[in-house]
Amino acid sequence: MLRRAPGRRGEEEKSGWKSFPLAAKCGSPYILSRGRGGRIMEVSKSKMRWLWENMKGYRAVYIVGIFGTILYNVLQLTVPVFSEKIVDRFLTGEEAAENLLTKRDLLIWLIAGMVLVTFLRTAIVYLTCIDFESVSQKVLYRIRNFLFAKIEHQDMKFYDNYRTGDLMTRLTGDLDAVRHMIAWVIRMIVESFSLMFAAVAYFFYMDWRLALCLLAIAPFIFIIIVLFRNRVAPMHAALREKLSLMNTAAQENIAGNRVVKAFAREEYEKEKFDERNREYAQTNQKTAFVWLRYYPYVETFANLLPVVLLLVGGMFLIHDQLTMGQYVAFSGLTWALANPMRNLGGIMNEFQRFSAASKKVMEIYYSEPTIVDAKEPVAVQEHLRGKIEFRNVSFSYEHRPVLHNINFTAEPGQTIAIMGETGCGKTSLIQLIPRFYDPTQGQVLVDGVDVREYRLHDLRKNIGLATQDVLLYSDTIDGNIAYGDSSMSQSRVRRFAEYSAASEFISRMPEGYDTIVGERGVGLSGGQKQRISLARAMAIKPAVLILDDTTSAVDLETEKHIQDALEHLEFTCTKIIIAQRISSTRKADKILVLKDGRIEEEGTHEELIAKKGYYYELVRLQGGEELFAAQEAQKEAAGRPEEPRKAQPAQEVKGGAWRG
Ligand code: GTP
Ligand code: MG
Repeated sequence: MLRRAPGRRGEEEKSGWKSFPLAAKCGSPYILSRGRGGRIMEVSKSKMRWLWENMKGYRAVYIVGIFGTILYNVLQLTVPVFSEKIVDRFLTGEEAAENLLTKRDLLIWLIAGMVLVTFLRTAIVYLTCIDFESVSQKVLYRIRNFLFAKIEHQDMKFYDNYRTGDLMTRLTGDLDAVRHMIAWVIRMIVESFSLMFAAVAYFFYMDWRLALCLLAIAPFIFIIIVLFRNRVAPMHAALREKLSLMNTAAQENIAGNRVVKAFAREEYEKEKFDERNREYAQTNQKTAFVWLRYYPYVETFANLLPVVLLLVGGMFLIHDQLTMGQYVAFSGLTWALANPMRNLGGIMNEFQRFSAASKKVMEIYYSEPTIVDAKEPVAVQEHLRGKIEFRNVSFSYEHRPVLHNINFTAEPGQTIAIMGETGCGKTSLIQLIPRFYDPTQGQVLVDGVDVREYRLHDLRKNIGLATQDVLLYSDTIDGNIAYGDSSMSQSRVRRFAEYSAASEFISRMPEGYDTIVGERGVGLSGGQKQRISLARAMAIKPAVLILDDTTSAVDLETEKHIQDALEHLEFTCTKIIIAQRISSTRKADKILVLKDGRIEEEGTHEELIAKKGYYYELVRLQGGEELFAAQEAQKEAAGRPEEPRKAQPAQEVKGGAWRG
C-alpha cells in the first residue's frame, strides 16, 4: 500500500485559506505598514477587534457563555440575599421566635432556594466552561490553519526574514496565548466585573452611604493596576522574544545535529542553549515577580474592606440605620468586591501575554507576499511551450546586486547549461523563472509573456525544479516522487525513477517504493537524494526543467545514464542545467558562463573551447587534454593553425576567481 501526502489541488480550500471568510479582507485596509522585504512591521488594528472577527460563526455561542457567566455571578448574590432575609426574620428582631413558628414554610423555601441556586450555579459554571473551551479551540484551529496557509503562500523574502523557530513559536505558543484569552481571560474579566457590579448594585440597594464608603477603595486599586500594566507590558514583549530565541536555538540544533556531531560541539551547543534557556527563565521569573511588588498594596486595600465595613457599618448598626441582616449581607459580600480586585493583577498579566503574542500572530496574519498573481492573468491552456527569455535582467537581494543585465533565449526543447564560479549568481538566476524573486530590472519571459503576467500556479506547475539543497519529505519514496501530482500512477513514478537512475537503489530498499525516507525515515546518500529529487522534478512532465547542480553527488556512470535519459525524455521540455562538470553541459545547445552576475561567455561547447576562456580551462582541468589534441589536429589538417593558448597553471585556475 503506497502512502502519499494528500493532493495539493483543492487543498487550499480545505485548509481554510479560501474558505475562511476574512481571507478576502486581508490585504487592503488591514495592512498598515510594510517593512523592507515585504515584512509587516506594525499592525495597529485593535487586537480585540481582530479576535472578535475571528470568532465569526461562534460569536452567538460565546455570548451565551458570557451571559451564563454573568448569570452565575449574579446568582452568587442569592446566598447573602437569602441570608439577610433568614437573619432578619428568623434569627434577630422581635418577631423572630414567632416567625419561626408561623412562617416556617418561608424559611424552608428560603433554604431550599439557596440549595437549588447552588446546584443551578454549578450547572451553569460547567456549561459555560465547556462553551468557552470549545469556542476557543475552534477559533484556534481556524486561525492556525489560516496562519499556516498565509505562511505557505509567502514569497522567499518572507522566509529570508523569519526564522523557522520564530514561525513555529507563532504557530504554537503565541496562538495558545490567543486561545487562552478566549477560554480564560475574557471569562475572568466578565466574572470579576459582573460579580463586582452585582455586589455594588446590591450594596447601593441596601445602603448607598455604606456602599460609597466601601467603593472609595476601588480607585486606589485601579491606579495600582494601571501602574502594574505599564510596567509589565514591555516585559511580556521581551519574554515573547526570549521564547522565540530559545525555540529557534532548539530547532536549528535539532535540524543541524549532524554538523554538531561532526565537530563534536555538543557541549558548546548545550551551553548556548543553556544561555537562551536561562535568559528565558529569568525573564519569565522577573515578569512573574512584578506582580508580587504590586500585590501587597492591592491586598492591603482589599483587606481594608472588612475594616471599613466594621467601622462604618458598625456605627450604622448601633444607630439603627442598618439591620443586622443587612450587615450580614454586606459582610457576606465584601469578598465579591475584594476578590475581583485581587484577581485583576493575574488577569492583567494574562492580558499582556495575549497582547504580546497576538501582535506576533497578527503580523503574519496580515502579511502579504510581494510576489502575487497578476491582476488579470494570462490564460494558460494546459501546458506552456517552454520558451524562456531573459531581457536585460538585473537582480538584487535587498540592496545587494547579484545579476547584471542578463540576456539569453532558450527555445522550447533546448538545453541551456549555466556554469560559473561559486556565488556568481547561477541559483539566483534560475529562481527568477518560477518567480521565487522578481527581477529588479528587465523581464523574464516564458513563451513570450512576462512571468509576472501569469497566475503563479499556472507558471509553477509548468516548471520542474530540482533544487541545489535537496529536501525530501517524511514520506514514502513513491510519495516523494509523486509530490507534484498525487494522482500520479505508480508506473509513472517507477519510469521516472528509472530515468533518474534511482530505481536500482530503490529496489534494494527494505520496502522498495514504500520505504519511508526524509527526516524520520531511512537515511539516503546525497546522490540518492539528488536522484529522487530529479525524478520528482521530471515526473510532472514540465515544460521547463531546471536542475540546479542535481548530479553533483552522483558518480560518472550514473551521470551518463541520467544524461542519456534527459536527452530522450518522453515529453518536450526546455532544460536549464546548472552544473560544474563538463560531462553534464557539453551537449547543451547553449552554455552560459557567469562571472560576478554577468554572462561572460556564451555559446556551444565547441565555440567556448575556441574562446579559450573559463570554459576552456574547465575542460582542460577536467581531463580534456585528449580532446584538445584531437581538435588541434583537426584544425591543422584543415589548414587553419591557431596560436596555442598559453595554459594557466592548474593551481592558479583552481584558487582564482574562476574556480568552479
Ligand atoms: P553556488 O551554488 O555555490 O555555485 O553559487 P551560485 O552561483 O548558485 O550563487 P547564488 O546565486 O546562490 O548566490 C549569488 C550571490 O547572492 C552570493 O554572493 C550569495 O551570497 C548571494 N545570495 C544568495 N542567496 C541570497 C539570499 O537569499 N539573500 C541574500 N541577501 N543574498 C543571497
Ligand atoms: Mg547555487
